[in-house]
Amino acid sequence: MFGSSSKNFKFNKFGFAKIKPDIGIKKDLVDKLSFKNKKDLLIKDRKDAGALKVKKEYLQKNYKLYANLLLKNGYVKIAEELVKDNIYPYVVMHILNNKKTKELIWHRDQYFHGRNFIGPKFKLYKLAIYLQDTNQNNGVTGFIPKLISPRFRNKYLDTIFAYLSSFLSIHPRLSIGEALIFSGKVMHHRPRQKNDDFREAIIFSCTNSPNNLPSLKNDENEFLNVFLKSKIKLGIN
Ligand SMILES: [Fe+2]
Repeated sequence: MFGSSSKNFKFNKFGFAKIKPDIGIKKDLVDKLSFKNKKDLLIKDRKDAGALKVKKEYLQKNYKLYANLLLKNGYVKIAEELVKDNIYPYVVMHILNNKKTKELIWHRDQYFHGRNFIGPKFKLYKLAIYLQDTNQNNGVTGFIPKLISPRFRNKYLDTIFAYLSSFLSIHPRLSIGEALIFSGKVMHHRPRQKNDDFREAIIFSCTNSPNNLPSLKNDENEFLNVFLKSKIKLGIN
């Protein structure tokens, strides 16, 4: 599906690309990254349909690990080849869903609502790494073909239209350690959990230049800076 020889290849018709890391993610690395057995370090986010998030202080302790995961396993390199753009992650979200987590409704992360552009004012990509085999039953991100997904300048109409066309949506099947990258402008949702499995993912908000975020790149507590330092350390351009 993604072995296209087209030089202009970016995303597929649904607006996402699948990233299969060169080095498969090892079981001990998954165990090291996982919070499935550390429930007390999670906090319920009502604004995110009740999903469980790793608390900020524990998230920050893992920044180097997340940066190395992205760089050493080749996620960023592969993502850059797929989207033909530079990828700089600047926010990390480590998220778990269980049966109690509700659907995160169809939406775009960047859109016009009337005259206002909502969301980051620069190029936005989301890169999501899934820490178990993931499909529609355990909350994989779903997409609607771009062709039938007109962008209304009204977020309510936009979402209603997404539900009307959602029978044409796709929910990719991913193996443990595989990732998705999609643009902030693409219509997507997170379906409700239909089984007892947890869906654990690390989701990075990314942009195409660190200069889009001048206030973050020199702050050593920010993930962008940890990522930039790891890149230099590993000798990656
Ligand atoms: Fe989103």
